[in-house]
Amino acid sequence: MLNWLDSRTGLVTMAKDFLTEDIPGGASYWYVFGSATMFAMIMQIATGIFLTFFYAPSAATAWESTVAIYNNPFQHMVLSLHYWGSSAMIALVFLHLLQVLIWGAYKSPRELQWVVGVVLLVVTLVLGLTGYLLPWDMNAYFASQVALNITGTAPIAGSLMQNIAQGGGTMGTETINRFFGLHVWLMPAVLIALVGMHLAIFRHNGGAGPISDDPRKLKVGRFFPDQIFMDTVGAIAVFAVIYALAYFAPPFLDEKADPTVTTFIPYPAWYFLSLFGMLTLVPAQFELLATIVVPTLFILVVFALPWIDRSTTRNIGARLPIIWGTVITVAVIVGLSIYSQISITAKEAAAPPSKPQAQILAEANAATMAPAVAGATGAAGAPAGPMPGASVYKQNCSSCHGANGEGMPGAFPPLAGNATVTGDPGKVIGILLNGLQGKIHVGSSDYNGMMPAWKGNLTNQQIADVITYIRGGLGPNKAAAVDVKAVNGFK
Ligand code: HEC
Repeated sequence: MLNWLDSRTGLVTMAKDFLTEDIPGGASYWYVFGSATMFAMIMQIATGIFLTFFYAPSAATAWESTVAIYNNPFQHMVLSLHYWGSSAMIALVFLHLLQVLIWGAYKSPRELQWVVGVVLLVVTLVLGLTGYLLPWDMNAYFASQVALNITGTAPIAGSLMQNIAQGGGTMGTETINRFFGLHVWLMPAVLIALVGMHLAIFRHNGGAGPISDDPRKLKVGRFFPDQIFMDTVGAIAVFAVIYALAYFAPPFLDEKADPTVTTFIPYPAWYFLSLFGMLTLVPAQFELLATIVVPTLFILVVFALPWIDRSTTRNIGARLPIIWGTVITVAVIVGLSIYSQISITAKEAAAPPSKPQAQILAEANAATMAPAVAGATGAAGAPAGPMPGASVYKQNCSSCHGANGEGMPGAFPPLAGNATVTGDPGKVIGILLNGLQGKIHVGSSDYNGMMPAWKGNLTNQQIADVITYIRGGLGPNKAAAVDVKAVNGFK
């Protein structure tokens, strides 16, 4: 049977070649970092694909679908594994890199394997960054905003790049879509291609093996079964740690992103803490130094390492400048991260505490019941309970018209108790679609401001929802709902 298969595909010979690879110096637990990283990657791909079955990328559904995932114990577990898996993968890439660095394994003829490895680190970080936005909660929004604004400060193409990544001038559905596309499709494809390259180059050169004056004298071990066994032990250990973290410390889902909040203190993923720390440390006029110049130079130096350290020896004693350089760099990164963590903790202590997870989820669940409630009673006139338009209102209107439609005397007219709002629905639809300016009189005040047009910024459904809400859910207002058909057909 195997012969039959092999004569037609060559698969069995290939597998044999693969398994009988020589390991200079014999198998070792020191070599599991690379394979453990690959195990974490495969886990990320498997859990990630599963999550795309339930996640819906848009400003109106990203957070809501994440809440639904939280509500299902199995999906929640997979999400938590994916969350901690990303941390594990990045930590393992770092460790793998550090080990290669200390052992001098990047030296000729393995320069290109090193270069591909560094690109893999960058791709992994981009995956972490783009995944961070997807839950679309407060922290996802504001932390990603920091990253996008940093992109915008880059010289020459900065604002163009920000615009492309953001999908326009402000963060919204298109931003989620861009990040989603990068996170689930482009970056994983690049990642897999690079890992293939990394492994192919590895097989071409063979393992670097232990540091030795005469590599020919080393005893030679086999990949199968010795190294495979150790790699499996490594993978099981990685899984156990990820599983324990996912079980005991599932990620926190904050309230839905609300761009109007100005006081939120974002916290970055731990692997970006050092960059954040540098940004808080440097004075504003040198910001570009912290955001662009230093990180770019750093990556370039890391890329060029095999050509900077050109000596042929891998001996640690003979490479002290590189070893010290590495130790100091790691110390600075850890120091900046700790500093950043301390300063964020201090700011958070001063800010109002976030709600407990259970409360956020309970409120979200109550809100998702709203369409059913509104559907049952809405047509009759004044629906009771939360309405879909309430969140549209909170996100787009409350900053001017007040959380309860109370307005601001002289600047923004009240919508609660406002006869125009509860009067002719056609007029309200026109105001929402086309905006409003010129003098109006509401209550005992005159207003002469400008109300933005919402056509194009909100969907017709959202406009119908928010009108239904301001007519029937704000303060004492009890006017009839407006159907999306009326908005579609508005002339
Ligand atoms: C940037 C501030 C701002 C935002 C955001 C805003 N409005 Fe307005 N709105 C105004 C101003 C100012 C006026 C009065 C315009 C005038 O003086 O002609 C107004 C007027 C109105 C009116 C007419 C009131 C009347 O008595 O004629 C309605 C209805 C209204 N807004 C609803 C909304 C809704 C619904 C939203 C959210 C989708 C919203 N507004 C968002 C500033 C805003």
